[in-house]
Formats: sequence, C-alpha cells, structure tokens
Amino acid sequence: MYYVDEHIKNTNRVFPQQGRYDYLRYDMNENPEGLPKEFVESVLKEITPEFLSIYPEPDRFLNKYAAYIGASYENVVAVNGSDMGIRYLLETFGEKGKDVVTVAPSFEMYWVNCSILGLHHVPVAYEPDMTISIDKILDAITENTRIVVLLNPNNPIGNVYTEDELEKVIEKTKKVGAIVIIDEAYHYFYPNTFLKYALNEENVVLLRTFSKLFSIAACRLGVVISNPQIIHYVKNAKLTFDANAIALLFAERILDHPEMIEQLIETEKEGKAYTLAELTKHGYETRDCRGNFIFVTPKHQATEVAQKLETEKKILVKSYGNEMLKKYLRISVGSKDAMERFLTAFFEIDERA
Ligand SMILES: Cc1ncc(COP(=O)(O)O)c(C=O)c1O
Repeated sequence: MYYVDEHIKNTNRVFPQQGRYDYLRYDMNENPEGLPKEFVESVLKEITPEFLSIYPEPDRFLNKYAAYIGASYENVVAVNGSDMGIRYLLETFGEKGKDVVTVAPSFEMYWVNCSILGLHHVPVAYEPDMTISIDKILDAITENTRIVVLLNPNNPIGNVYTEDELEKVIEKTKKVGAIVIIDEAYHYFYPNTFLKYALNEENVVLLRTFSKLFSIAACRLGVVISNPQIIHYVKNAKLTFDANAIALLFAERILDHPEMIEQLIETEKEGKAYTLAELTKHGYETRDCRGNFIFVTPKHQATEVAQKLETEKKILVKSYGNEMLKKYLRISVGSKDAMERFLTAFFEIDERA
C-alpha cells in the first residue's frame, strides 16, 4: 500500500455537472450570455503561436488592476480563480486542527478546503428568518481561530455586513491572532466594498474574481488583495505560474474598456429588476440576493421544478437539499433577453396545474 494524506482521503467531493454547454445556464452565477462577441473576437486575434509559447507574465495585468482599484502592485496577486486564492489563504494562514469560522450555508469551497487541509470548520448557522447574527459570529471567534471568512454578499443567502460589524470582527480577530478573509466575488453587482480594510489593516485580505461580472469563468482568474506583507506570504505559497496568459490578456483588455464594464453592470441590473418584477406580478415570493442571483419560491416542489426545467426546457437552475433552502430555486441573472427565456419556461412549467 501507499501513503495517502488522511484529510484528502476522507474528503467527499461533488464536482459540477458536465455538458452544460447544451443548456441555458442559470445555475452557477455565470453570465448566461458572456461578453460581447466582437470584444472576444478582437482579444482572440492577439493569441498567436508565439503568445501561447511564452510562460504567463502577470505583472502588466497586476499593475493595471492595482491602478483600477486604487491600490498598488504590492497589494495584489493574480490566482487561478478565487478558488485557488481560497486554497492559498487557507494553506498560508490556517493551522491544522485549528478553527476556520464561516457562516453556513455559504460557498462550499471554504469547507471543502478545510476538509482537504485538516482545518477545523466552525459553521455559524443562519437564523430561521435567514438573517445572520454578528454576535454569534463574534462568539465563534476564540483563541483557536486562525481564519474568519465573510462573503459580502454571501452566496447563496445574500446577506451583507455593515462597516461596524466588520470592524467588530477585525477587532476580535486581532485579539486572537487570526486573519479575516472578505470574499467579494459579487462586487459590482453589490457596489459596497471593504477594500479599504484590506489595504490598511494588518490582518484583512480580500478576494475578487473575473468569473462573475467580468464573465470569463472559463479562463480562471481571481485576485487576492491585501497589505504587502500578506501578499508576500501568498506569493510564497503560490505556484510559480498560476494565472494563465489567456486569462491575464482577457482581463487586461476588459480593464481597457470601462464602458463595457459599465454596460455589463447596467445589463444585469436591468435583467434583475425585470425578473423580480415579473415574478412578483405572477404572485411569487422572491429574494434579491445582492449578487447576480435571486431566490424564487416556486408553486411546486423546487427540486421537481428544477428537474423539469432541465429535462423539458434544457434550462439549468440551482435547487437545494438542505432544510432552510429547500423551498427556493437560485436563479443566476443576466440580460433582460436571457431572463425572458428563463421566465417563459419557468411560468410554463410551474404554473401548469
Ligand atoms: C463567493 C464565491 N467565492 C468564490 C467563487 C469562485 O470563483 P472563481 O471562479 O474565481 O474560482 C464563487 C463562485 O461561485 C463564489 O460564489
């Protein structure tokens, strides 16, 4: 026999469904339609055989990105999706057997990486009315805590935190010697940011992704943002070549087009307002989850409606097994056109007697 790390051996993974290209996708908070075709074609023209032969060089992108967010090069590092950023942060600032505090439910890769790395996950449960008690988060932070994770807004339940709440968390983590990870995957859909804390505090680190508003989930690009000391540690932890050159090129060109970014924000906003209004008109209970996704309570059982949308309409949405969320479908939101396609199919399936 051979040695296998016991934490990896005992981790149960469920990987995303394959073959999703053939469906209309409202299940993973991607942009259902993607970036404008002309833009994508213009960037692809830059990808020559020579370009592909060269190892990725992230610095030009990092300088541009740092300027874009009002930070400097020493504050940022590019990673292979914020997924990889989560792994690096948990590897670097976690300690085997010690606590990582998150709310629950939340984005699964936090507890999956705890399991892989042998960190002790401390989930703080939502209240039955789907609010989260900051006092319960603060109570969960103890001498054993190494990392506290706050998603702002959270996925899937879109609660957000006030500056006052964050400051209390930062104060407590400083006392116990832990860091705070703030995941802003849904920034721009939700405009508030805690960036200033990541730049100015000694123990706060922020994650951003190019998979959501910037619509290049396929390329895999995330950015870890913090003070130079924390960024130095993350650079020590990272693979030499991590974010790939195609992702970096697309990201640079996206940043070159602020008007396209504005348009992406507007398009999603319009699509979301339209979707919520149409659902309300049809008598549905909805929840704006603050990112590019909403909850709707279908009239029929949520998992069955999701199944019918998939088999009869080739439409993917997210349903849940757990008690708190089982009455909801989570719907990723895109343009008004994309949402019209979803709503037509949804009403047809769910309003059928
Ligand atoms: C809160 C949150 N963080 C991180 C990610 C992962 O993003 P990426 O595609 O950058 O790995 C997601 C993806 O859904 C997410 O919801």
